Amino acid sequence: MNAGRPTDGGAVRVALLGCGTVGSEIVRLLREQAAEFAARAGAPVELAGVAVRRPHKHPELGDLLTTDAHALVTRPDVDVVVEVIGGIEPARTLLLEALKAGKSVVTANKALLAEDGAALAEAADSSGADLFYEASVAGAIPLLRPLRESLAGDRITRVAGIVNGTTNFILSAMTESGSSYGDALEEATRLGYAEADPSADVDGYDAASKAAILASLAFHTRVTAADVHCEGIRHVSAADIAAAAGIGCVIKLLAICERTPGDSGAPESVSARVYPAMIPAAHPLAGVDGAFNAVFVEAEAAGQLMFYGQGAGGAPTASAVLGDVVAVARNLVGGGRGPRESAYASLPVLPIGAVATRYHVSLEVADRAGVLAAIAGEFARHGVSIAAVRQSGGNGGAEPRPADAAPGSARLVVVTHAAPESALAATVAVLAGHDAVRAVDSVLRVEDLGRKGVAP
Ligand code: NDP
Ligand code: HSE
Repeated sequence: MNAGRPTDGGAVRVALLGCGTVGSEIVRLLREQAAEFAARAGAPVELAGVAVRRPHKHPELGDLLTTDAHALVTRPDVDVVVEVIGGIEPARTLLLEALKAGKSVVTANKALLAEDGAALAEAADSSGADLFYEASVAGAIPLLRPLRESLAGDRITRVAGIVNGTTNFILSAMTESGSSYGDALEEATRLGYAEADPSADVDGYDAASKAAILASLAFHTRVTAADVHCEGIRHVSAADIAAAAGIGCVIKLLAICERTPGDSGAPESVSARVYPAMIPAAHPLAGVDGAFNAVFVEAEAAGQLMFYGQGAGGAPTASAVLGDVVAVARNLVGGGRGPRESAYASLPVLPIGAVATRYHVSLEVADRAGVLAAIAGEFARHGVSIAAVRQSGGNGGAEPRPADAAPGSARLVVVTHAAPESALAATVAVLAGHDAVRAVDSVLRVEDLGRKGVAP
């Protein structure tokens, strides 16, 4: 249990690691609202020091600045360490040092939590300190505390939604204003949404880290980033966006964490995956634009809940960090501790091959008799049931030839019913080498996220 009093008997003293997009907003809000923080926490909340790499960039912090983060986190006058540096090292070592020294930790670092959250949780348990990380998933949206506390009396079956602001900003800009991928990424970076290395955003790793954190909390099971199937948005083209619009859908980068009931001797299991997917334009997630995030949680007793808000940016993220700081401060002042890690269920994590979803497959095929039947036959041979087929171009097509279609070719779009990923992958591998198929142009999932009957 926390010591029950701040180290100096009065103020709760905060060591801040990092003062970039998020850290600078934490400093601003702590200073501007000092009286309110004191009232809410039950004691003044003061900065004890701020560790950065380049102190000359932060003249306004004066004597608070240090480049020796290791000394700062173990200083006797520090009660809480707030980490907004990002990345695995030195953040991991610093937080382990802080926890071992009995300091409570608040972090926004999803990459670290998804890689080594168990080590942090064990260190917090050993010393009785708090470990809070609300800001690590979905920015300002209160999501982890509801999962950890409010829904602790329910059985969560699915957590799914948009958890990366940068990629949502890019896909929204490409969809709505026809922006190029490169221009949209540059703007997201300028606005402070992107990670220090934006490939973490566009290649899906940031969302995968968040999916690991969500799945761990929702299913009381340790899920790491390595357990999450991850695909990013680099390959999503303007043609894919147009194809989605053609069937009444939009493309979003989704994180989906699901519980799969056990049957026929197979144990209950969970899965976690991140990929761009077509969702119906009528689905509430389709209207989530820019850097906003939205997450659906489904629980057996509660039913469906939706969480929506700003998923990235300095001030929104600082709001979540400071909520955790107040929670730690209240525990220090009043005694007590936040919930410990809950991993009792220890459910197996399914490989992506076993996960079933629907697909939109776009092919360029030879425009001759028997091709449609041959291709439909390959889907059937692999146990993938077709929901709809559309042909454009060619002699028999109901729609005009696409501008990019080669002579003698037709564009064939196949939308499937739900099928295991392994079956679809095997189908596509055969089609790629089929003599009637000139190119497999794209394969995208189609998700209706539990809203039966709305997907095409
Ligand atoms: P920034 O890159 O803007 O800031 C990083 C800060 O860390 C800088 O002040 C930098 O110092 C400091 N720093 C880097 N390395 C060290 C080191 N070795 N020792 C001491 N200080 C160091 O990152 P953000 O503020 O955008 O993100 C911080 C964390 O918050 C990350 O984990 C990120 O994933 C997470 N997060 C970010 C969100 C966002 O919208 N930006 C949203 C949710 C979470 P200096 O200033 O001297 O360069
Ligand atoms: N880079 C992250 C995003 C920051 O774009 O969502 C918020 O976690």
